[in-house]
Amino acid sequence: MHSPQHIRTDQIPGLMSITLARPEKKNALDDAMYRALTTAFARADADPTVRVVLLTAEGDDFCAGNDIAEFLAMSRSGDLPEPSAALGFLHALAAFGKPIVSAVRGHALGIGMTMLLHCDLVYVAEDARLSAPFVDLALTPEAASSLLLPARVGHARAFAMFVLGESLDGRAAVECGLANAALPGDRVAACAHAAALTLASKPAQAVQSTRRLMREQGRLRAVIDSEARVFRERLLSAEAQAVLQAFATRRRPGA
Ligand code: COA
Repeated sequence: MHSPQHIRTDQIPGLMSITLARPEKKNALDDAMYRALTTAFARADADPTVRVVLLTAEGDDFCAGNDIAEFLAMSRSGDLPEPSAALGFLHALAAFGKPIVSAVRGHALGIGMTMLLHCDLVYVAEDARLSAPFVDLALTPEAASSLLLPARVGHARAFAMFVLGESLDGRAAVECGLANAALPGDRVAACAHAAALTLASKPAQAVQSTRRLMREQGRLRAVIDSEARVFRERLLSAEAQAVLQAFATRRRPGA
C-alpha cells in the first residue's frame, strides 16, 4: 500500500514494516507524514498479529529531519497547531507497546536521529551519519532526546551533538550505545529484517513487558511535553526565522 503521505506500510505474519518513502527530499518529515506515521503505529499497536515494527526508509538516507520548508512557514506565520502533528507522532512513538527495529543508511538527522532513541534494535550502515544539530537551526532537542541521548552517550558527547552539531558514523554509533551493529550499507536492511523476525518469534508478552520495564513512559511523555514548549518558543523566535530563512536560501544570516 502506497500512501500519498509518503509513508508505506507492509505486513507479513508477526511483522509490520513502516517505510519512510520520500527519498527525493531525503525522507524529511512533513505534517502529513507525521500523521500517517501516527496512524501506522496506532494500527500496529492495536493489531494483535503484529509483534514487531520494522522502521525503514527508501533511498540512500534514513531521514533528514523535519521538513525545513514547513518549519520556516510555521516560524514566519506564527501558526503552530497545538498539539502539532509532530508532537502527536512523538507521543505515539514513546507510548508504543511493541518492539521497534530500525534500519539506517545515510543521514539520520534531527528527528530522524532522535526517533532511533525509541527503537529497541538499531542496525546502521558503517558510513551512516547520525546527527542532531538543533542549535545550528536555533532550535532545541525534542523526542525526549534531552533525557535519552545523554543517558546513552554521556553528557559531553550529547551536548556536542546538540550544540556543536557533531555527527557520529555507524561504527561510532555502535561504540557509544546508539546502535546494535554497523554493517556494509547493502546488508543493513536484510540484517534488520532478520532481527525483526527473530524478535517476532519470541514470547510476545514477555518481549512487550521487557520493553515497558526498560522505558518509563510517563517520564518520557512529560519530557516530550516540556521540550515541545521550549521548541515552540524557539521556532517562533527571530533567531530561528533568520537561520531557517538562510538555510532555505542556502545563505548564512546577513549574507
Ligand atoms: N526538509 C526539506 N527538504 C529537505 C530536507 C529537509 N529537512 N533535507 C533535504 N531536503 C531536500 C533538499 O532541499 C533537496 O531538495 P531539492 O532537490 O528539491 O533541492 C533534496 O532534499 C536533496 O537534499 P540536498 O541538500 O541537495 O542533499 P545533500 O546530500 O547535499 O545534503 C543533507 C544532505 C541531509 C546534509 C542536507 O539536505 C541537509 O542538511 N538537510 C537539512 C537537514 C536539517 O537541518 N533538518 C532539520 C533538523 S531539525
